Amino acid sequence: MNAPISDSDISTDDARSTELDFAMCGSSNIRGTAIPAGDETEHVSACSTTDAMAAPAYTMTARVLHWLTAFFILTMMPLGVVIANEWGGARQESLYDLHRSLGALLILIVVARLIWRWMHPPLPLPDDIAAIQRFAAHVTHWGLYALLIVQPFCGWIATSAYRAPIPVFGLFDLPPIWPEDRAFSEQLFFVHSLIGAAIAGLAAAHIGAALYHHFVRKDRVLMRMITG
Ligand code: HEM
Ligand code: HEM
Repeated sequence: MNAPISDSDISTDDARSTELDFAMCGSSNIRGTAIPAGDETEHVSACSTTDAMAAPAYTMTARVLHWLTAFFILTMMPLGVVIANEWGGARQESLYDLHRSLGALLILIVVARLIWRWMHPPLPLPDDIAAIQRFAAHVTHWGLYALLIVQPFCGWIATSAYRAPIPVFGLFDLPPIWPEDRAFSEQLFFVHSLIGAAIAGLAAAHIGAALYHHFVRKDRVLMRMITG
């Protein structure tokens, strides 16, 4: 049987214990499926407070940061492919600038997101989700976090080694963080394209899983990232 809450979810923090109360209310509640009449009394008594019932799986801040990240990634990937293949025509330079500016901002968003997550851990997944699926979700999420940190630095170092400027929305330039070395820059841009492909693969699996939860399992996993 899957434990609804792992050791890592247990915290002494009062605010978090409210979230845990909610998590312990059972998967039927979190999934939003009907509770059989006979189980209802037991269910209500197990969920002692209305506050606990109201605790969202993800705070508003976590949700805004998630959808901002998603928007950035879904914009930057095609943008990267367009600039790498020089399909931008007269707009090529401004597309380069946009890609680099969004990448620089993404570093801040992902760091803010990780700090927020550390301070406000999300509720665990519904407890009827198979261990293998939990593991897959865990690997995908942490894989995405890791690559979203590595990728902008890879782009920043490669661009520094090329000695191209990195203007951020025309406001200021990021400083170069690597000595000029064109050959190394070329190699690193190749790595940048490989990491881009890995992000695309993980994001596709992630989006597929979210849609599977919503349309096939009909649980609340997608909605909890939208409405909490
Ligand atoms: C998470 C953030 C980022 C993602 C997902 C991303 C993704 C990509 C992708 C998919 C490509 C196309 C690679 C190819 O098809 O060859 C690309 C190209 C490029 N990226 Fe990024 N990138 C990110 C951040 C950055 C940053 C921060 C910079 C610079 C400061 C940067 C600079 C570039 C440049 C200059 C190219 C064109 C390389 C070339 O002309 O061959 N990227 N990026
Ligand atoms: C393509 C860019 C995206 C990236 C990089 C991304 C990244 C992430 C990460 C890292 C998490 C883990 C949150 C955490 O617990 O810390 C997450 C959660 C989630 N994402 Fe995304 N996401 C993206 C797009 C999407 C899209 C388009 C959807 C919907 C179709 C989606 C649906 C979800 C859902 C439902 C969760 C919560 C899963 C849960 O409650 O365990 N994501 N996302």
